Amino acid sequence: MSPRRILVTSALPYANGPIHIGHLVEYIQTDIWVRFQKMMGNRCVYVCADDTHGTAIMIRARQEGRSEEALIAAMQEAHERDFAAFDIQFDNYGSTHSDENRQLCARFWQALRQQDLIVQRDVEQLFDPEAETFLADRFVRGTCPQCQATNQPGDNCSKCGSTYRPAELIDPRSTLSGAAPELRSAPHLFVQLEKLRDFLADWVANSGALQSETANYLAGHFLKDELRDWDISRPAPYFGFEIPDSPGNYWYVWFDAPIGYVASTQQWCQRNGESLEDWWQSDETEIHHFIGKDITYFHTLFWPGMLKAMGWSLPTKVHIHGFLTVDGEKMSKSTGTLVTAETYLQRLDPAYLRYFYATKLTPRVEDMDLGLEEFAEKVNSDLVGKVVNLASRTAKFAGKLGLSPEYPDDGGLFAQAAEAGDRIAEAYEECDYARAMRLIMELADRANPYVEHARPWELRKDPERQQELQDVCTVALNLFRQLAIYLAPVLPRLAQQCGELLGEPITRWQQSRTPLVGTPVAPFKHMLKRVQIEDLQQMIEDSKEQDTPEESTPAFADSDQPLKDEPLAEEITIDDFAKVDLRVARVVAAEHVPEANKLLKLTLSLGGEERRQVFAGIKAAYEPEQLVGRMVVMVANLKPRKMRFGLSEGMVAAAGPGKSEVFLLGIDDGAQPGQRVH
Ligand code: MSP
Ligand code: ZN
Repeated sequence: MSPRRILVTSALPYANGPIHIGHLVEYIQTDIWVRFQKMMGNRCVYVCADDTHGTAIMIRARQEGRSEEALIAAMQEAHERDFAAFDIQFDNYGSTHSDENRQLCARFWQALRQQDLIVQRDVEQLFDPEAETFLADRFVRGTCPQCQATNQPGDNCSKCGSTYRPAELIDPRSTLSGAAPELRSAPHLFVQLEKLRDFLADWVANSGALQSETANYLAGHFLKDELRDWDISRPAPYFGFEIPDSPGNYWYVWFDAPIGYVASTQQWCQRNGESLEDWWQSDETEIHHFIGKDITYFHTLFWPGMLKAMGWSLPTKVHIHGFLTVDGEKMSKSTGTLVTAETYLQRLDPAYLRYFYATKLTPRVEDMDLGLEEFAEKVNSDLVGKVVNLASRTAKFAGKLGLSPEYPDDGGLFAQAAEAGDRIAEAYEECDYARAMRLIMELADRANPYVEHARPWELRKDPERQQELQDVCTVALNLFRQLAIYLAPVLPRLAQQCGELLGEPITRWQQSRTPLVGTPVAPFKHMLKRVQIEDLQQMIEDSKEQDTPEESTPAFADSDQPLKDEPLAEEITIDDFAKVDLRVARVVAAEHVPEANKLLKLTLSLGGEERRQVFAGIKAAYEPEQLVGRMVVMVANLKPRKMRFGLSEGMVAAAGPGKSEVFLLGIDDGAQPGQRVH
């Protein structure tokens, strides 16, 4: 069979939060499939990107006092670091906030326009007059119009389950400012999905791209009634791409997000001298999307509709997985079960999680549970007890001897396991990793008794039986290697260690067919240690400590750059601090100093008639008019300094690196000039 050409994607993680073990279900599932395809000799390209647009990012950047670009750059760095740590290997990792994506969005848009699929209609939406932005449903809370439960979100009631529009809430409040939102009308642009109904219904039922449960669900729910127009524009302010033929309006994040798959492919193509058409417009390329069940609708109706309008390839398969629970519960910060990738990595080997998920993943849309005890038990008994054990009990004896020049009689073990390779490969291909892992462990269960029985640790002591010892080690290490090959998509590091031990890198599935003979064996290096249940418990504790209730406190992701730029100073005593006399002062006059390009001349009042003149290097950041009347904090007992322009009798306190980035310290209302700052 000639190699297949396969494009694979995982859903693009939102840039407004860290990667957690729930996300990792998907990225690990996809990475395993990609590694498997590559081992089979197929051409397989795995692309992903950060999903960067939308109101949430805009609001968060505002709250953190930095630009959206700075925020998404920091998040992307963190995401890529986490993925790499879990051995998730993308061929390209892009961003939806890229030039490639902007241009592709314009092409998709044009196609939708040309096919007459876009209409404009006024939409009434709640507007926060203080934050000056339209409010997405989840930024509005109020009383349920059905059951009167208070503090309910803008889309549906958590008490009675009824759904409504945010404008229907009684006494609605913006969660951004607490202000009462106003109803405002603005023009929005819609995709008329109903016009694509025949195509979509046919694709869902007959393309084979969807798991049957998903196809049935769509047919029974959405496709049963008229398909509602899809609102894909948002009025300013919005962090996203402005729509070229509709100034002041932006594409809704879910319009440009899936196009991000294409944009990321394009970046890969550019780097590798390939053409985008070969990947998105060719019948010879398979396109596989891996997603979670919560975003089914976007990938099975909207996205195929958009591709259809472009006349591009439709997804060959949308692989949909269920959700992760931890110890039987929905992941949550309060119970410590919402474990971030970073927290996990502080205590545990990523290989454990890759293997554990593999034992749980099936081709069905089922939720899966990470039970802590089960996790420890599976990793310890399967990986350490059955797989690594084969090598650790024999490699050190084989070190001196190397592998036998011919493969010895092993009672058919190697041949049987080689034959099982096809069934295991089939299971991987179908995303039935649970079955693949079972088949592999059955082989391990047969290999271990062989070693038990042959007792190499006793043979070693008998100089007469060194040939026998070499043969036993040759068999055990070859059976180990077969397992390492079969597990390579799941455990790439183990495969690499096996390759180093036996002097031949593992790259192809086919290597499982032929035993290695007559080669040296490298000194055995430790491969995987047992999971300690205490580490798992500690991980849960660590996750609790990070707990911040989502509604009340936004999750800040402040940069660590300032502390890196300027590490903390040496420790001082309270008496040292008391030497500095900090006072509240009011700026009573401020003016430019004609000869100085950085300084403003400030007259500060310490109350009554007390005045001080201070030259402050804040000209690039403040206009004199802005300053008059405001309170500042000054160092009042600093020795006066004679400057070219006059005497400076103190210093105003400010933060920041300088130039235009200077931030004067203020003080809460009520403080009086002259009061000391302790
Ligand atoms: N940004 C969108 C996807 C855009 S794709 C064009 C998004 N991002 S997400 O960060 O919320 O989720 C990324 C993926 O992780 C989704 O497929 C989602 O289903 C999956 N998961 C998020 N939490 C999960 C669990 N608790 N369990 C399993 N998968 C989970 O959706
Ligand atoms: Zn209700």
